[in-house]
Amino acid sequence: MITIIGSGKVGGDAALFSALKRLDDQILLLDVVDGLPQGEAMDINHMLSEQGNDVDVTGSNNFADMQGSKIVVVVAGSGRKPGMTRMDLLKINANVVKSVVENIKKYANDSMIIPVTNPLDPMAYVTYKASGFEKNRVFGMGGMLDLSRFRQFIHEATGHSRDSIRALVIGEHGENMLPLPRFSSVSGIPLSSFLTQEKLDELVQNTKHVAAKVIELKGATVHAPGNAISAIVESVVRDRKQVIPVATYLDGEYGHSDVTIGVPAIIGKNGVEKIIELDLNDKEKQAFDAGVKSVKDAISGIEI
Ligand code: LAC
Repeated sequence: MITIIGSGKVGGDAALFSALKRLDDQILLLDVVDGLPQGEAMDINHMLSEQGNDVDVTGSNNFADMQGSKIVVVVAGSGRKPGMTRMDLLKINANVVKSVVENIKKYANDSMIIPVTNPLDPMAYVTYKASGFEKNRVFGMGGMLDLSRFRQFIHEATGHSRDSIRALVIGEHGENMLPLPRFSSVSGIPLSSFLTQEKLDELVQNTKHVAAKVIELKGATVHAPGNAISAIVESVVRDRKQVIPVATYLDGEYGHSDVTIGVPAIIGKNGVEKIIELDLNDKEKQAFDAGVKSVKDAISGIEI
């Protein structure tokens, strides 16, 4: 069973995409709000019925129902309002995540946890430390979402099919996000063959700030995060061993320890199977290190 804790728009979309991809026979939506997960589950099941899809989505307010889950996605907590940064949610969401993790330890102690709650990297650290799980079993969804946006901007700028575009974004899922044009391509062809450095710099800035624009326009980001969650879950449940940027615990990698931040990793049935260390140039390393500092500063202010 796949459990999604937090049945708001993103959690509901993650359940929807996971059901459409048939990632498990059972998907559980949990929330503290009476009726919300139940209503979301009913709505999705009605859609699945029309499609002849027998994945069973259930909704519950009882954390005990996640018993036996192999994957638990944590979306619970407050979302950004227009004008807020993700880091503005630190204190309020740290308490929510700590409470959720206590329930995961109690009812799904053998699961893998995919934090999504913002600020993502500090929340992934809270999840890792509070759960006591091995580090391969905790990996936050941030970079997968960011790279989907970088891909869109490359698609718009070059006119090439989204399917031909590979993009990589690492570092903090926040103000210090690090889109990497050098490690992105159109069918393996370097982006510099299609775009000027000035244009590439523009796409990097657009990638960093577009989520806030979506929130300003429609109040929340929903489908892109929901899809990104399901893509990571798929790499686990189908043991696809995709290379995906996830917020996971560093123990010396990239020259850093005791921090959780977005790095490329092989994601398979055992979760984070290997962290891939890129040969970053000085400018990239400096930007990555700035993200590490931001996350460490945030972590230092949280009681775990
Ligand atoms: C975003 C939120 C999920 O980037 O952080 O849309």
